[in-house]
Amino acid sequence: MRTIDDPAALHSSRVQLLPHGRGLLVDGTAVQIGRRALEILSVLVEARGELVTKDELLSRVWNGSVVEEGALQAQISGLRKALGDHRDHIKTIAGRGYQLTGDVAVVESTSAAEPGPYPGCPTNLPAPTSELIGRETNLKEVRALVAAHRLVTLTGAGGIGKTRLAQEAARQLSANFADGIWIAQLASVSDPQVVAATVAAVLELGTAHDALSTKDIAWELRTKRMLLVLDNCEHVIDEAAHLAEALLRWSPGVRVLATSREPLLAEAEVVYRVSPLALPPEGTEDADALLQAGAVRLFVTRARAADAHFSLDNHAGRTISAICRRLDGIPLAIELAAARAEGLGLEALAARLEDRIEVLTGGWRTALPRHRTLRATLDWSYELLPDTERAVLRRIAVFAGAFTLDAASAVATDAAITEADLVSCVANLASKSLLTADVSGSNAVYRLLKTTRSYVLEKLVKSGEFEVVARHHAKYCLSILEQREAAARRQAEERLAVFNRHVDDIRGALDWAFSLGDDAPLGVALTIASLPAWLHLSLTEELRERVERALASVDRASAIGARQEMQLCEALDAAEISWTSTLQCGPRPSV
Ligand SMILES: Nc1ncnc2c1ncn2[C@@H]1O[C@H](COP(=O)(O)OP(=O)(O)OP(=O)(O)O)[C@@H](O)[C@H]1O
Ligand SMILES: [Mg+2]
Repeated sequence: MRTIDDPAALHSSRVQLLPHGRGLLVDGTAVQIGRRALEILSVLVEARGELVTKDELLSRVWNGSVVEEGALQAQISGLRKALGDHRDHIKTIAGRGYQLTGDVAVVESTSAAEPGPYPGCPTNLPAPTSELIGRETNLKEVRALVAAHRLVTLTGAGGIGKTRLAQEAARQLSANFADGIWIAQLASVSDPQVVAATVAAVLELGTAHDALSTKDIAWELRTKRMLLVLDNCEHVIDEAAHLAEALLRWSPGVRVLATSREPLLAEAEVVYRVSPLALPPEGTEDADALLQAGAVRLFVTRARAADAHFSLDNHAGRTISAICRRLDGIPLAIELAAARAEGLGLEALAARLEDRIEVLTGGWRTALPRHRTLRATLDWSYELLPDTERAVLRRIAVFAGAFTLDAASAVATDAAITEADLVSCVANLASKSLLTADVSGSNAVYRLLKTTRSYVLEKLVKSGEFEVVARHHAKYCLSILEQREAAARRQAEERLAVFNRHVDDIRGALDWAFSLGDDAPLGVALTIASLPAWLHLSLTEELRERVERALASVDRASAIGARQEMQLCEALDAAEISWTSTLQCGPRPSV
């Protein structure tokens, strides 16, 4: 064994063990190797070529847990595979144990070339391949939440950036977790029963033969201080919730940071809704000011990656800002749009965005399959929905803007979907990040992201229900207008009743203000406030006299006076019209 402090010497060793279990370099290349295999190699290196018995390896690497010898053999075989041409460095002493026979350099100095960005912290977090844009505040908030709570779930729509945010927050927290930061990417787990096995494999717990339960995993981690990132839990939500709860109960030093399109609903869970990237304020023109907004910065960064000559002048800036706005600031949609900008040009891209679902295709070849097109991302959520939620989602996509539960009910209920079904479906769709909910007012208001709406409208048309739903929607709009009209009529009648009750007092007050009291401003205000009532009662002659008297006293030099003069003149015009129609239709009864 050699210890290397001098980076130059590093290159002369064919097998290099990085410090703190951070990995293994073989012929200068980082190789995939699990935690236990690394620990076995460390123990062999420490023995400096002496025999290490099987019992010692089992006890040191498995922390005294009872495991079969097969588990050790499996790890040794994995280790030999990782060593490739240097597999003979590990010699089996039949029936007794193992021995290191070749040269393995242990890199001690952190000044030596480091393949990973996490000195001192064992981790399987992938190294970031691009800058995380516009998430400074979110990072701070997530770090604070993980420091204060043991289970934090980042939720939000597909492609909004939950995974990226979780990975970066975890990375920045690495100093706090001596036993590392481990990420279990659950997106590819299609069978919920395999969640525990996937996490156990990431943490290299148990053996290939023993399937560990969530409780076993939690028990194995009881003495560890680690952060476990459970990434993309939405399709295995129950199992992820059980695992998180078991960890909270049995492993006091373990924290969980989950990402999911919907909350786990686990005990003690704290939910953090990931917001879209910031958009520039409407009307911003200046390119530098536009770049302050994360959404624009992401678009420009990706567009420049595709075309090094891409430049941002004020005109391009306005178009990009409009594109980002139409994509609701969703990073994945922005990335896909930026990739299309190179072929289409900005203006054509903006013009074609009505058809977002068709246009936003062609992501990175290395992207996850569900991130290569916007359709695939939305398919992922849509396909996880039960039939009733799908039907409700399709029907409420008819709303172009915000809508209430009443509105949703008008278009989405029928013989099969009751009012109660609808309420629970809408709540579930909001929880699954397919709707945004604003519950700040007395009546909750919901909305679909524009990208989600485009996708679901397509489904609505395909379902053959579009005609029926559009008719319900039109009837609902009519009923809203009629209700407003009736309410306005009621209000006008109430106002008139009040006026009628006080009409003689109002006449007296006006006479006083313009003569005895000599308080013209009060008289003008009274005239203006009573205008609609005089008009409504067709007391046009009286209205004209009173308006003319008020006009004579308006102080035209002041801003208020000018506005009042305008209101009074409009009333005179209205009185003229009313006067003409009165002449045609005959007078109303006098008050
Ligand atoms: N702040 C950001 N800066 C740069 N790129 C980002 C940012 N946020 C997200 N991205 C990119 O957008 C894409 C989607 O992000 P991510 O995978 O984190 O979304 P997600 O919310 O986890 O989606 P899903 O629900 O499908 O898992 C990725 O390519 C990611 O690299
Ligand atoms: Mg994700």
